[in-house]
Amino acid sequence: MTEGNLNTVRPEPVEGLRQAQPERTRGTLYGVSLGPGDPGLITRRAWALLERADTVWTYPVRSLRKESYVLDIALRAGLTPPARHQSLLFPMTHDVEKLARHWLKAAETVRDLLATGQDVLFLVEGDASTYASFCYLARVLRELDSAAQIDIVPGVTSFNAACARLQMPLSEQDDTIAIVPAAYGIAAVEKMLDDFDTLVLMKVKPLLDDLIDLLARRGLLAHSRFIEKAGSPEERIVHDVAALKGSKVNYLSLLLVKNPERERGEMIRGCRKKTTVELEEETQK
Ligand SMILES: C[S@@+](CC[C@H](N)C(=O)[O-])C[C@H]1O[C@@H](n2cnc3c(N)ncnc32)[C@H](O)[C@@H]1O
Repeated sequence: MTEGNLNTVRPEPVEGLRQAQPERTRGTLYGVSLGPGDPGLITRRAWALLERADTVWTYPVRSLRKESYVLDIALRAGLTPPARHQSLLFPMTHDVEKLARHWLKAAETVRDLLATGQDVLFLVEGDASTYASFCYLARVLRELDSAAQIDIVPGVTSFNAACARLQMPLSEQDDTIAIVPAAYGIAAVEKMLDDFDTLVLMKVKPLLDDLIDLLARRGLLAHSRFIEKAGSPEERIVHDVAALKGSKVNYLSLLLVKNPERERGEMIRGCRKKTTVELEEETQK
């Protein structure tokens, strides 16, 4: 194929109808997933973006005094932050107004950076579409600017990495899986035990003791595992979950629970039976 074949002929714009060009093209916001802690789980696509020196890195912190967990993943990977990089405050609070204020402030900061024409990377721990502050940031940015360009680089979630570290399948054959923030409470979690073969319990910190009591009552302690800061140098794996009773755990921790005794309903297997008409049509072909 010659080069000419690749060129598209564009009509000359009619003077006066020429569209007003923006003075500077706005940048794109990238939600860049870095996986839950092991730099080896950063995808090639994320890596290519993170190597670019012409971007601005942003990353969430829960308090201005705290280090950023996700920035540490990038630094441990041997990556160098670009000249401009800054934290965005996403506080841990249930105060809806306070949260909305901080999401707005973060989105305004990103909007102003994008207006300078630079691409902005928002570094995400785990996967950017899974319980991530990136979801709020992207939503509020779209509210501020419906034309904002947003791109998401998917990544490894904490629970996928946890299953690998624990050598525990997330699902086999016809297993059902529920991924639930434990904050729904013990009654809700107990109900789910009847419907799901695997429960991934996220954000377990405030309810851990109650969850341990539930697992003991349901005879599931032997089928449960705890993991904290999966993939990071501070990773902690606990097989004897009952031993955690009364102890303080990190926010970045989860429980994987299998329910091998779950009663399953009837399942439809194999192919649908063909009707007589369909069989006749087949023989006529
Ligand atoms: C705001 S969510 C972030 C989820 C993350 N985007 C993901 O893809 O897994 C935070 C919760 O995810 C789980 N989590 C995140 N990172 C983890 C890690 N490295 N080890 C264990 N659990 C983790 C914990 O349950 C934590 O409370």
